[in-house]
Amino acid sequence: RPRVLSGIQPTAGSFHLGNYLGAVRQWVALQETHDAFYMVVDLHAITIPKDPAELRANTRLAAAQLLATGLDPERCTIFLQSHVPEHTQLSWVVECLTGFGEAARMTQFKDKSSKQGTDHTTVGLFTYPALMVADILVYQADQVPVGEDQRQHVELTRNIAERFNGRYGATFTVPESYILKETAKIYDLQDPTIKMSKSASTPKGIIDLLDEPKTTAKKLKSAVTDTDTVVRFDEAEKPGVSNLLTIYSTLTGAGIPELEQKYAGKGYGALKTDLAEVVTEWVTPFRERTQEYLGDPATLDTILARGAEKARAVAAETLETVYDKVGFLPAK
Ligand code: TYM
Repeated sequence: RPRVLSGIQPTAGSFHLGNYLGAVRQWVALQETHDAFYMVVDLHAITIPKDPAELRANTRLAAAQLLATGLDPERCTIFLQSHVPEHTQLSWVVECLTGFGEAARMTQFKDKSSKQGTDHTTVGLFTYPALMVADILVYQADQVPVGEDQRQHVELTRNIAERFNGRYGATFTVPESYILKETAKIYDLQDPTIKMSKSASTPKGIIDLLDEPKTTAKKLKSAVTDTDTVVRFDEAEKPGVSNLLTIYSTLTGAGIPELEQKYAGKGYGALKTDLAEVVTEWVTPFRERTQEYLGDPATLDTILARGAEKARAVAAETLETVYDKVGFLPAK
């Protein structure tokens, strides 16, 4: 079985629809066909200051949500990044293979650091991509299911893997990103030219998966569309409507042409009302399952401990090879 690896940050509140449609939905599908490793990236989370109690709560919440989406610890390995020290150990080696300029070209770093200013930007935010490279390479992953915004980081991973292999001999699998075109980028409901994101969107622009259904309906009703009334998929001319159609189509399996036909002559109101129902229908059992996992932290912690054990077995083997190739003497 080919191997997949991916990660998600433990954010305050819940995952949003962009996280789910862009990435986690694919994780659930891939656990059936791949040797799958999925983690909550708590180490990455502290690149921006986090309150410890909140980080703890958000990490549990993230793990509970992953299980609630349908990830099954019998079919995939679910764990916390901080439970597998090999990630940070390999990350140092990666940092020493990454050019300063190369890291400085990462657009996510440029975006985040320019918003924060250099005094508030940590070195950790700068080296964040190196840790992500290590996350992927330490499992010898073949594919990395992510949204479009992570493509550049996976490209960097490929470059580093090739560089290491060139310098020290064949060691790493060179991974590919696994990005579904339709859902690569889910857009902000209020500004359909930017991606839905916790850091850039206003609350009205984001569908949080744990929102009350009433809130979701309200947000969808006030989603920015255009002055026309024709329901048609056209990303350039009608980014707002197209985004709603993408969400609708992915959650129901209905094709876009089918939806265009269904709403012909009906206008945006009908589309938004129905979409609110579609989202609610998906989100309601998800919310219930998340609460169940949160209500049983002992089970959750056991799942995560088992996941970490499985992950470490793989990661430790890679790290040992890498340390040897680099020229570090064995400890014993
Ligand atoms: P994060 O936590 O920001 O996002 C998790 C996943 O959700 C995807 N995503 C989106 N997809 C489509 N439309 C959107 N609006 C949208 N917003 C977010 C992201 O692309 C991502 O796949 N650096 C990563 C976490 C990470 C990782 C890794 C991923 C750390 N190590 C190793 C893969 C492999 C991040 O911050 O994702």
